[in-house]
Amino acid sequence: MAHPRVDAILREARDAVAAAKSSADLEQVRVRFLGRQGVLTQLLRSLGGLAPEERPAVGAAANEAKRELEGLLEARLAGALEAERRAERARGRLDLTLPGRRPPRGALHPLTRVHDEIIAIFAGLGFSVVEGPEIETDYYNFEALNIPRDHPARDMQDTLYLSESTLLRTHTSPVQIRAMQAQRPPVRIIVPGKVYRRDVADMSHSPMFHQVEGLAVDRNITMGDLKGTLELFAREMFGRGSRIRFRPSFFPFTEPSAEVDVLCFVCRGDGCRLCKQGGWLEILGSGMVHPNVLKNVGYDPEEVTGWAFGMGIERIAMLKYGIDDLRLFFENDVRFLRQFA
Ligand code: PHE
Repeated sequence: MAHPRVDAILREARDAVAAAKSSADLEQVRVRFLGRQGVLTQLLRSLGGLAPEERPAVGAAANEAKRELEGLLEARLAGALEAERRAERARGRLDLTLPGRRPPRGALHPLTRVHDEIIAIFAGLGFSVVEGPEIETDYYNFEALNIPRDHPARDMQDTLYLSESTLLRTHTSPVQIRAMQAQRPPVRIIVPGKVYRRDVADMSHSPMFHQVEGLAVDRNITMGDLKGTLELFAREMFGRGSRIRFRPSFFPFTEPSAEVDVLCFVCRGDGCRLCKQGGWLEILGSGMVHPNVLKNVGYDPEEVTGWAFGMGIERIAMLKYGIDDLRLFFENDVRFLRQFA
């Protein structure tokens, strides 16, 4: 149903579509012929002005031309857009094959790692984890632990007092008292937590550090049980070939008391920088729970006995990882922390 006027427009439009090089060019062609002011649109709108006998032929031809042009544009546009997307990718603006940018991954703090390891070892032996308050009373931190009024540990020099009778606990031992008050024997607990002392920070001192307390109370508990338990702990913590030794010591809340050393795992006892030539590394304080302490919580020392120990988490971590300055744990320099990832 051709019509010379419409044919001329259609030929022009086909050429324009063929000449278009981009989706933008195609859009221009669409506007030029099919837009509001487009040539075909105008022609269809002006049909009323034609002679009545001409109208049907021109109208039909124009509508057919419009449909053909719409089809042509649609077909070319899909290809043009795809080519443009490919060109964009090739130009490197959007490379979908690149791996994503990974967010930096954190790691556990070395103290957290050592803390978790200690807990895991004792949990495996059937100990349960108990915690206690960091703000303590004089009674729990000292009195109940058989630490006499005039003991130097009570001195303002060492203890951070909050009031006449309250203080920041200087060790985790007060939780021994709280735990024993809360239950009857047998007791097998492990107590991790922060402790505070009136110290100025240097390589080996910090006003806050972490301890883990251990306590076992039952019928017939002996110092042999303490030694066996700590031997196993040392092997798990420092390696199969670890050896420990007990050195007589003194704590008001244990009798007898012992400090425990582990054979230096760097030099195996020959003497080196880590053990300061001594061949042994001190890791904790321990002993048999003093009868006065058992009495203070209402236990009968004729019926039950117990052992206790307290170790510093920072100390264990320093030995295990060969860290020589305590302050590194608290400065949180990522270059330091990253080494334990
Ligand atoms: N509480 C002691 C300290 O902080 C350690 C310890 C705990 C010693 C339990 C013996 C028994 O030094």
